Amino acid sequence: MAPSTNSDDSTAPYGGPAPTSRSGRTRIHHLAQAKERGEHFAMLTAYDQYTASIFDEAGIEVLLVGDSAANNVFGHATSLPVTVDELLPLVRAVATSAPHALVVADFPFGSYEQSPAQAVATGVRFLKEGLAHAVKLEGGAYYADTVRAMVQAGIPVMAHIGFTPQSEHALGGYRVQGRGDDAARLIEDATALEAAGAFCVLMEMVPASTAAAVDAAVDVPTIGIGAGSATTGQVLVWQDMAGLRGGEGVKVAKFVKQYADLRTSLLDAARAYGQDVRSGQFPGPEHSF
Ligand code: KIV
Repeated sequence: MAPSTNSDDSTAPYGGPAPTSRSGRTRIHHLAQAKERGEHFAMLTAYDQYTASIFDEAGIEVLLVGDSAANNVFGHATSLPVTVDELLPLVRAVATSAPHALVVADFPFGSYEQSPAQAVATGVRFLKEGLAHAVKLEGGAYYADTVRAMVQAGIPVMAHIGFTPQSEHALGGYRVQGRGDDAARLIEDATALEAAGAFCVLMEMVPASTAAAVDAAVDVPTIGIGAGSATTGQVLVWQDMAGLRGGEGVKVAKFVKQYADLRTSLLDAARAYGQDVRSGQFPGPEHSF
């Protein structure tokens, strides 16, 4: 999707920032237009101000403050422990630092499953306190009523189906979903969530042929991670995309393409700094007052 298609023709009818300060924001209808035109868009996770502003400047259309912050910010082994209160400041930092991207806040485990009312309350917090533009939740057709209630409350919802990391214990680990006959289940999930008002369907770890069938079954745009190339959008966790995560014993998923080696760059920089300090090379006269 070319960044030039992101023009925002809305005005601020009740005051507030001048319309020009919001021009160029990606909106959910731009993602729908991308699918209609056969274009693609990119989504990356972001959890802080610098990555948000860099990815925004790079023209990444959608930033996801994922519950993967549990693994990639807070150091947990799974995404389950992170809470709404922990994610909210990260969402706000990203939304404040990205003038163009659509910012999506991820519902953490335990923040929406009990009832549509619980989901609406969580969504309101992410849009009101976190300044997100949309939210994402994991789960299939079972959550159609939940999505409907949120959309009625004015909360745009991205649905996440296929492998849903919050259910990793129920699913028996990180396993590809929607193989063979199971493809029909994913198509049912996607069509039910679309009918409930989801503006987009994200699929994780799904065979490319299944993802293509899901994409063909819905009018809304789809996003893939480990779901082949037929989806309208693609998403990666930024630390995977930029090679920050790695080192001994760390396995990178098959669906990841690394576009940089930030881990090596940071390791080299930190080692050089440590050596300079120990040898008295830093600070030099040029760094002193
Ligand atoms: O939390 C996350 O990073 C995600 C992506 C893997 C889609 O949900």
